[in-house]
Amino acid sequence: MVSRRLSFVADPIPVAKQSLSRRPHLKARRCILQSFVVLSFAVVAAGSLAQEKQEKKPFQPVVGQSGKDVVWVPTPFVLIEKMLDLARVTSQDYVMDLGSGDGRNIIGAAKRGARGKGIEWNHNMVDLAKRRAQEAGVADKAEFVQGDMYVADISQANVMAMFLLTENLDKLMPKFLDLKPGSRIVINGFGITGWSPDVTERASGDCGSWCTAHLFYVPAKVVGTWQMPGGKLTIKQAFQKISGTLANGANSTPVEGSLKGEEIAFTAGGATYTGRVNGNSMSGDVKGGVGGKWSATKK
Ligand SMILES: C[S@@+](CC[C@H](N)C(=O)[O-])C[C@H]1O[C@@H](n2cnc3c(N)ncnc32)[C@H](O)[C@@H]1O
Repeated sequence: MVSRRLSFVADPIPVAKQSLSRRPHLKARRCILQSFVVLSFAVVAAGSLAQEKQEKKPFQPVVGQSGKDVVWVPTPFVLIEKMLDLARVTSQDYVMDLGSGDGRNIIGAAKRGARGKGIEWNHNMVDLAKRRAQEAGVADKAEFVQGDMYVADISQANVMAMFLLTENLDKLMPKFLDLKPGSRIVINGFGITGWSPDVTERASGDCGSWCTAHLFYVPAKVVGTWQMPGGKLTIKQAFQKISGTLANGANSTPVEGSLKGEEIAFTAGGATYTGRVNGNSMSGDVKGGVGGKWSATKK
């Protein structure tokens, strides 16, 4: 019963074996199918041609375009020059920018003879920066790498030139403090929580809302106890500011001072100590009190 019903529904002769001339409706169906296939190919080909054309259009960045942790806004060129002046960038320097955008900070530094590297998340911006470095004739000095600024190795830099938000800078701050003492950090506009800039200056000219540059010197790490011939120096450190005590037996004198990279200066009692930190030792001159030279060794 079942097989009979099936034989009724199914075509009793396989289609391939049927003569088309004897079955004109099949010929028409094949024509329609062929036309449909040709048309589909044409539509797909036209689509991919249009896409290719679009892809060949050079990438144009848009101010405010989203970025991984901060949008892209370019530093005005006059402010870049101010930042590089503040950091006194020369051919001796290795400059890095985290979130390097179209590469302008590093290209500016390279034009002064410095080597530099920009880390940027957006690969289109990285390509653009490479093109701009080539056009400026500094591609041999300015390197651009796609990557995340939070995991980038900055240990070789002695100058950082950046435009990031305070929340970005705060997260990066431990890495900045690990740079070689005396390294210079120049930032467009924003600050780092708790760390006062050593110098702040304004650019003049065409800088719109972004005319202020901050310079920070990475301070030597001096926190702890130091032995001096005349007593024990105990130092607390908050970035470049230092405080503490200079103790000799039962006598303890408050200490106040600051660092500019490896240069240290502090007062204790009526005397002013100036000198240089060199790892676990420091030394210099004393003015006031008994005067002369001073030295200290980390305990
Ligand atoms: C405010 S723009 C500064 C551009 C450039 N430094 C300048 O001064 O003109 C910040 C840049 O950081 C990039 N960026 C955002 N998050 C990032 C991340 N996690 N790692 C690397 N780059 C990032 C953005 O794509 C953008 O180009």
